[in-house]
Amino acid sequence: MPLNTIDINRQQGHFNDRAQLWLFGYGSLIFKVDFPVQDCRPAYIHNWSRRFWQGSHDHRGTLDAPGRVATLIREPGACCVGMAYMITPAVFDHLDMREKNGYLRFSTPLTFTDGRAPDQAEGLVYIATEDNAAFLGPAPEADIARHIAGAQGPSGPNRDYLLNLADALRALNAEDPHVFAIEQLLHEAHSTR
Ligand code: SIN
Repeated sequence: MPLNTIDINRQQGHFNDRAQLWLFGYGSLIFKVDFPVQDCRPAYIHNWSRRFWQGSHDHRGTLDAPGRVATLIREPGACCVGMAYMITPAVFDHLDMREKNGYLRFSTPLTFTDGRAPDQAEGLVYIATEDNAAFLGPAPEADIARHIAGAQGPSGPNRDYLLNLADALRALNAEDPHVFAIEQLLHEAHSTR
């Protein structure tokens, strides 16, 4: 798969024919909402785990020194908490550009947790699959924390991505041992400097 996924997302055109749709955000889309939304609702999706296994060449790192950002990895029984946004397809130009470093649009069932009806919907999610050119894959959380501590890119320090996400997940009462372990390691490394 090419490094830039804009053309693939445009050609596949998933959800282009909808008047409006739910976008499920699980990474920076939770804490940086730089696009128009008509509604937002906390939600989760089943059988996916959030992992800092995706390289970032364009936001939190560079081509020569990629950062590490979140993607979703299939894991039966897992639950990934995030935020769902009601958007229109007009936002795809912006989102495809923002997520161009390996992420493709997929369809997913999602469950809302705010008690409003309906409590389920089909949604769209951007996932950087393991066959994308920027995928870095698994590593011990201590190594991931060290990597994140040293990386930065046009959108700012890689550390800010992780810490902003951890804060946003706490606000959602989300359990995410992977993210919170890396957050803890970053704080420890910072305080012993
Ligand atoms: C997402 O947040 O849903 C996708 C990954 C990212 O942009 O960080």
